Amino acid sequence: MSSITGIPENSPHILVLGMGGTIAGLAFNPEDSPLQYQAGQVGVEALVGHIQSAVPEGVKLVSYQLANINSRNLTDAHLTALGTAVKEALLDPVVKGVVITHGTDTIEETGLFLQATCGKLAQTQAKRVILTGAMLPSNAPGADGPSNLLDALRWASTAIDNCPGGIYAVMDGRGCMAMDLAKRHATALNAPLQNSPSSSVGLINPSWLSGVKAVQAAWNEDLPIPQENEWPWVEILTSHAGARAETVAQWLKSDVRGLVVAGSGLGGLHDAWVEPLDKAMAQGIALVRTTRTGAGRILPNIPEADASGCRAASALTAPRARIALQLALNAAKQANLAGKPLTWQDFFARIADLPEIR
Ligand code: SIN
Repeated sequence: MSSITGIPENSPHILVLGMGGTIAGLAFNPEDSPLQYQAGQVGVEALVGHIQSAVPEGVKLVSYQLANINSRNLTDAHLTALGTAVKEALLDPVVKGVVITHGTDTIEETGLFLQATCGKLAQTQAKRVILTGAMLPSNAPGADGPSNLLDALRWASTAIDNCPGGIYAVMDGRGCMAMDLAKRHATALNAPLQNSPSSSVGLINPSWLSGVKAVQAAWNEDLPIPQENEWPWVEILTSHAGARAETVAQWLKSDVRGLVVAGSGLGGLHDAWVEPLDKAMAQGIALVRTTRTGAGRILPNIPEADASGCRAASALTAPRARIALQLALNAAKQANLAGKPLTWQDFFARIADLPEIR
C-alpha cells in the first residue's frame, strides 16, 4: 500500500492524481459567462467517472485527490507531496502509468519539477506520467477537460511504439515533454503548449520522439525532492523601463536564497540593478538571468559579460528557472552534507543545458 495515497489496490491500474485546476472548475453561470468560475471544485473521482465509459477496455483506473486548488496557489508543500506520490507510483509494480489533473496556470512549474525529480525513474521503470488540465471549467459548453483527460489516460495506458517512459503533458490533442510546457496565452485551448515543440496524440512524430530520446539520454540522475520545509526561497524579478535599485536592494535584508531575473530581450538588466545585484551575490544570494520575452535561449555573457557566479538560464523561462534554482540549491546542500563539493551551478546546468526539442 502506498504511504502517500494509502490505496489498497493490488491489480494493475493507472493512477489518476487530482490537483484541481479549471479541469475541476465550475462556472457560476456557464452558458452566459463560462470564464467566471472557481477552479478546483469537482473531485477527481467524478472527473474520471464522467469519461469512464470511453476509457480503453481493460484499463483499470484508481483516483486519488492530492489537492483541489487553483494552481496559482500551488505551494512548495504541494510539489513535495506530488513528487513523492509520483515516485512511489513509479516504483509500485501494480501502477502502470500516472495521470495528473492540474491547473494550467502553474503546470509549467510542475512539469519542470517532475522531470527534474522523477524523469529518470519514469524512464527506467518504462512508465508514462501525463499531466493534463483544461482551459474551460467542467460545466462550460464545449469543456475541454474530458477529451484532455481521455487523451492523457490513453497515452498513459496504451503501448505506443517507441514512446519511452517519461514525464509528458497533453492538451488540445497535442503532447509534449512536461518540461516544455509554457502557458503563453490567457484563453487558447492549447495555451500551455503555445511555445512547446509538440506532437499530435496518437501520431507520435518521429522527429519529436528523437528529441525526447536526446533529452532522456542527457538526463542521468534525478535531483532530490526537497522536504516541504526545505525548499529554498527564490523570487522572480522582472526588469522593466523605470526599474529602481530599491526593488533589488530590499531583498538584501531578507532570507531569500536566490533571485531569477527576467531581463528584457536577450536577458539584459536595467543598469540600476547592477550594483544591488552584485551586492546580493556577494551576500551569497544565487543569481540566474533569463528573459521576460517568454521564449528563446539566454546565453552566458550576452548581451554583456555576466558577473562571476551569475548563471544564464539557457532555454528555461522564468517560472521554470525558479524551480530549477530551488532544486539546484537544495541538491547542492545535500551533496555538500554528503561530502561532495558540488555547487548549485553544477546542478542548475544539468537542467538548463538539456538539449532542446525542435
Ligand atoms: C488553475 O491553474 O488552477 C486555473 C487555471 C487553469 O486551470 O486553466
